[in-house]
Amino acid sequence: MTEILNRRDTFKAVLLPLIAAQLAAQPAAAQTGAASVIVYLSRSGNTRVLAGALSRRFNADLIELRPRDPWPADYEQMVGWASAMREQGNNVPLAGDLPDIAGYDTVFLCHPIWGGDLPAVTASFLQSHDLSGKTVIPIITHGGYGIGDAVATAQSLAPNARFTEPFVLECNQERDDLASLNAWLGENL
Ligand SMILES: Cc1cc2nc3c(=O)[nH]c(=O)nc-3n(C[C@H](O)[C@H](O)[C@H](O)COP(=O)(O)O)c2cc1C
Repeated sequence: MTEILNRRDTFKAVLLPLIAAQLAAQPAAAQTGAASVIVYLSRSGNTRVLAGALSRRFNADLIELRPRDPWPADYEQMVGWASAMREQGNNVPLAGDLPDIAGYDTVFLCHPIWGGDLPAVTASFLQSHDLSGKTVIPIITHGGYGIGDAVATAQSLAPNARFTEPFVLECNQERDDLASLNAWLGENL
């Protein structure tokens, strides 16, 4: 509960004013009435909270990124999968037919940090879509180790997009949640 309240408070206190200031300073979407889209990746839900709030706040369409072939449910296997995808140069086939993003001027690019970098799934989206001329607002969650190379990687994959400063939020780590659960199980069951 405390975690949820903290996230909500952080969102109200930090995220909304930041985005409002960014849009006022860089009026692509706000003043032209151009459409925004929220493109998000979320495995354990942290980034989904932000993506949903942004969608409601800006009445923006939501696009969820998923790999065509499901990622491992087990966390440790997931870490291996994520680095294997990055090492193979991304190009992960994505699930579903993603909508055409040509008509959107502003893209909220919402993603967690995986292995100190942009997740391979998000990188694969950028590899397969042209964001030239669009404003990209990175919305990034991480588990305590910062955003690493994520913005630089995203910029290298969308070289003709205009990136704003990222919004960055530290969230809980699936790994820590599982460690806490396992410690409790070890003591109690
Ligand atoms: C495969 C994997 C790799 C991760 N690597 C990092 C990392 O390098 N640094 C970090 O701070 N957090 C890392 N995390 C934690 C996530 O970035 C963090 O928990 C994030 O908020 C998860 O977002 P989500 O709940 O939307 O999936 C990793 C999580 C996963 C699943």
